Amino acid sequence: MTPAMAEQRDVVSPDAEVDEHAVESALRPKRLDDFVGQGRVREQLSLVLHSAQQRSSVPDHILMSGGPGLGKTTIAMIVAAELGAPLRITSGPAIERSGDLAAVLSTLQEGEVLFLDEIHRMARPAEEMLYVAMEDLRVDVVVGKGPGATAVPIDIAPFTLVGATTRAGLLPAPLRDRFGFVAHMDFYRSDELELILRRSAEMLAVELDRDAAAEIAGRSRGTPRIANRLLRRVRDYAEVRGDGRLTVSTARSALALYEVDEQGLDRLDREVLDALLRRFRGGPVGLSTLAVSVGEEPETVEVVAEPFLVRSGYVARTPRGRVATPEAWSHMGVTPPSDAAFGAAALVEQDQEET
Ligand SMILES: Nc1ncnc2c1ncn2[C@@H]1O[C@H](COP(=O)(O)OP(=O)(O)OP(=O)(O)O)[C@@H](O)[C@H]1O
Ligand SMILES: [Mg+2]
Repeated sequence: MTPAMAEQRDVVSPDAEVDEHAVESALRPKRLDDFVGQGRVREQLSLVLHSAQQRSSVPDHILMSGGPGLGKTTIAMIVAAELGAPLRITSGPAIERSGDLAAVLSTLQEGEVLFLDEIHRMARPAEEMLYVAMEDLRVDVVVGKGPGATAVPIDIAPFTLVGATTRAGLLPAPLRDRFGFVAHMDFYRSDELELILRRSAEMLAVELDRDAAAEIAGRSRGTPRIANRLLRRVRDYAEVRGDGRLTVSTARSALALYEVDEQGLDRLDREVLDALLRRFRGGPVGLSTLAVSVGEEPETVEVVAEPFLVRSGYVARTPRGRVATPEAWSHMGVTPPSDAAFGAAALVEQDQEET
């Protein structure tokens, strides 16, 4: 996402803001038991880690996939903490050449956890080096240039790779196959987000009412990062305009001020829906036409607004364009013209049958 797009998005963007890293790391659960939600992932991971510990060996390589803000980095840190192992952090974009990766791999200590964030963005030659390292604990370092160049194999210490990606589909199969454990992070339920919010409130030393937690959770798009951010915005509001306590009415006023509605839709989401309903009678309409009508770049609408609108069931993508669902009409409180509503709903059903 470009900075301009991030600015557009602000309060409900699932991506971390530039100055958000410090507060995020303060709110990160440190152990598996403190990690809320993702029950299955937690249980599986606990088995992988503890059985390796019982055998006094290094656990399998772990791949975390899932959208931004769902807890991938958090899990990577928990893996190291649970194992009591040192943690090395790097990321796909930081590895431009295979030499960058060789430097990391050849200096790993035994049992070290290597966290490779955005693993799908690593350079191809480095990817190949990583396969060999994961499987054979070896890196082949090329010495010299041209016809005289030779590959010198170097043994590396047993380690656990924790890869994270928001785009598991972009990982080449041979790389994915070398992970012994692949965990997919899902969106969180409201009750899980409430728990996260209550825990964060405690750490931030703010008083958060139960129904205020529920109110914020419901607007957090299933994403802990957004929940924590909305909590901080509500706290700001409560401190300046109230007595500092986070009640449900403070939460509602604060979130209204930040233009986050009951379903977590923000201004851009609602503008897009509004144009789709009123101007294009529910669609189908092409993405660029829709973007122009709200004065945005098509990419902004596609990357920033559309995914959540589709996931929430307000918009469907059909081969003929974007279509509003019956839920969109009722959420926006717009009465559909009889033909448009039926047309759009029928289109959605028809396309679902086709796929
Ligand atoms: N299960 C959870 N319990 C409590 N807090 C969580 C949980 N998952 C995530 N968080 C909080 O949400 C924030 C974002 O999590 P994290 O950085 O792990 O996301 P991510 O998946 O790595 O995102 P990105 O794809 O942007 O790197 C952290 O501050 C963390 O405190
Ligand atoms: Mg991360």
